[in-house]
Amino acid sequence: MLIDTFGRVATDLRVSLTDRCNLRCTYCMPEEGLQWLTKSDLLSDDEIVRLIHIAVTRLGITEVRFTGGEPLLRPGLVGIVERCAALEPRPRMSLTTNGIGLKRTAAALREAGLDRVNVSLDTLRPDVFKTLTRRDRHQDVLDGLRAAHDAGLTPVKVNAVLMPGLNGDEAPDLLAWAVEHGYELRFIEQMPLDAQHGWKRDGMITAGDILDSLRTRFGLTEEGESVRGSAPAERWVVDGGPHRVGVIASVTRPFCQACDRTRLTADGQVRTCLFAQEETDLRGALRSDAPDDEIAALWKTAMWGKKAGSGLDDPAAFLQPERPMSAIGG
Ligand SMILES: C[S@@+](CC[C@H](N)C(=O)[O-])C[C@H]1O[C@@H](n2cnc3c(N)ncnc32)[C@H](O)[C@@H]1O
Repeated sequence: MLIDTFGRVATDLRVSLTDRCNLRCTYCMPEEGLQWLTKSDLLSDDEIVRLIHIAVTRLGITEVRFTGGEPLLRPGLVGIVERCAALEPRPRMSLTTNGIGLKRTAAALREAGLDRVNVSLDTLRPDVFKTLTRRDRHQDVLDGLRAAHDAGLTPVKVNAVLMPGLNGDEAPDLLAWAVEHGYELRFIEQMPLDAQHGWKRDGMITAGDILDSLRTRFGLTEEGESVRGSAPAERWVVDGGPHRVGVIASVTRPFCQACDRTRLTADGQVRTCLFAQEETDLRGALRSDAPDDEIAALWKTAMWGKKAGSGLDDPAAFLQPERPMSAIGG
């Protein structure tokens, strides 16, 4: 079991499959991209499957989320999902993606054993999408969403980050659209995880702002904590139900005390938190033929050292991690 000194148990593993992305969202990375990991830096498909095998058979992981960078850029993705679906016990598997290319792969991913997807889409306006992501791919994302829904990768969740002056006024439109299409929308507060270190607390749109904006058009009733469990999204029932909307208030209402996550970067480093300053190298152990027991022990020791919180609630002391979100795995 992956337990820390505060008694939290990690059962949810985020696995980054690549640090590369085909979008350049302004809140994530600069226009020219980043210095990408080399092929030999990246864990191989076999190494990834071995670590997930260790996680589910020895460490109590029950949920695996593939992410990145953009995980659909990983050539071996379908094979990795298929091999993980054959593990005993079988983890529940999901994918966080920008949806580009999902139209082509949704059915194969479902067939391989993927349970569901989260697709990131911040705007309904193609021109705003182009400004925000610096790519003209809005329709590809919409097509990917539809394909995921049709392939049964449900519930299809949509992640949206709101930025003042860009898509900051779109919360009600996004919710109306999500309700109409049967997608579950979750707003994520913008976090200080951009490569450019341009995030400003003063400039961000908060969960409170988002809820105020939604209430201009919808009736929202808060779902009880007993329903939420360790999920980061606080959820509201929309207009009496059945539809729900989530808000992940990582900055203004952190949920660290209920955190059940552990993270693996594309180059095989365990991180206890998005905002952790330390990493534990499992790739070195894998490549020096360490047995499963030894790798599991390294992972447990890493998690034992997990901090109480992200530090975001203490602006004076907060230190942005060296790696940006795309290189950690969001
Ligand atoms: C880093 S991306 C990786 C997976 C995939 N490429 C995608 O677009 O979903 C995962 C999520 O992180 C979000 N994200 C990236 N940078 C962020 C930031 N600084 N604050 C909040 N969310 C961020 C993205 O909007 C996306 O929903």
